[in-house]
Amino acid sequence: MKQDNLMEKIASLCKRRGFVFPNSEIYGGLQGFYDYGPLGVEMKNNLKQLWWKWFTREHENIVGIDGTIIDHPKVWEASGHVQSFVDPLSECKKCHHRFKSDDIITKTCPDCGGELTDPKNFNILMSTELGVIEGEKTRAYLRGEACQTIYLDFKNVVDSTRIKIPFGIVQIGKAFRNEVTPGNFIFRQREFEQWDLQWFTHPSEMDKWFEFWKAERMKWYQSLFNDQSRLTFYQHEKLVHYAKKAFDIQFDGREMEGIHWRQDWDLGRHSEYSGKDLTYEGYIPWIVETSGGVDRTFLFLLMDAYTEEKDRLVLKLNPKLAPYKVAVFPLVRNKEEITKKARSLYLNLKSQISCVWDDRGNIGKRYYSQDEIGTPWCVTVDYEKDSVTVRDRDTTKQERVDISQLDSYFQNKLK
Ligand code: GAP
Repeated sequence: MKQDNLMEKIASLCKRRGFVFPNSEIYGGLQGFYDYGPLGVEMKNNLKQLWWKWFTREHENIVGIDGTIIDHPKVWEASGHVQSFVDPLSECKKCHHRFKSDDIITKTCPDCGGELTDPKNFNILMSTELGVIEGEKTRAYLRGEACQTIYLDFKNVVDSTRIKIPFGIVQIGKAFRNEVTPGNFIFRQREFEQWDLQWFTHPSEMDKWFEFWKAERMKWYQSLFNDQSRLTFYQHEKLVHYAKKAFDIQFDGREMEGIHWRQDWDLGRHSEYSGKDLTYEGYIPWIVETSGGVDRTFLFLLMDAYTEEKDRLVLKLNPKLAPYKVAVFPLVRNKEEITKKARSLYLNLKSQISCVWDDRGNIGKRYYSQDEIGTPWCVTVDYEKDSVTVRDRDTTKQERVDISQLDSYFQNKLK
């Protein structure tokens, strides 16, 4: 399927079934802003929890923080964003559309053929004001990358825990960029979420840890996607001056996460700008960063899961990510004893596992509806006293399972 076509289909499914909505839609929408709906927030939370558990429980020496969106304005001077977080753009003199200079091949507008201006720099840091008195407000920035808060808390983490180098700090949080060309659904937004590891190491071990995290992160993504051949590394050739190497993990050739060699740049700059000593045992630790987009991963997982079959549309999501794990149906609607038994089974399961009730239409329609949102198992309660049927989303096969075994049946599947 062509990529743009697939993206359109996914955006439409997301809206129709409550995964993602355009923000402020009743006012005509706001470009680059999206809300997660009832199913989307379940899936996104599942994704973030998997990420968090993987770092903090399946690795050692990693702790988390949850920092603010607005930091001291000097942070963004020290980080270099005030001076250099810019996109060079050319504007069409006729239709006034703006284009990233990187995307322009000729001096004429791709939209109307008009003449383009020379590239000008646009800063994409988003600003706000602090204070209540007009004329005395100070400018602050919504963080352009979430990782800066980790550097600000580095010393506090070291001082308040018994953690020793090498160690990592992880965080999942919002970042804001005044992207000039937001688009491709939730691929490029102005408000989005990042998940970061900042791994602090002695300089002598930098290479080893860079390679370790590069491989680990790829393995993690591979564990979630069906078609691993769509995940690749891209090696950057143009590097910032302090970086020895940089890689992206891509899905279908589009960036999902960056593995960055940040060296002592960040702590060094914050030390210089704040005048505070950020050394550890006499040296500034070097940093390996893995910084990915939660929304992009969410989008790519949907693209990977989206499957059109002859008579159904199915989201083959990893069950751990699916918004609902189980749907419970009564076989027929007009038999009180079946409905009662099904309701009680549903209420029981619901306290253990994410579950949804469905008694609309016929069974075929209910399967269709659950396939479309990726529910891995549908339980139908029928005339059998002690057992139910469980239908598998991917194989569409059904099997009989004892009601007393149902809990452990699903827990085993989810292991
Ligand atoms: N701290 C490093 C950093 O921010 P980045 O490559 O600019 O690096 C990391 O961003 C990740 O954040 C990207 O790989 C991408 O997944 C996500 N990201 C960046 N800009 C985004 C945007 N405008 N909308 C959605 N996700 C974005």
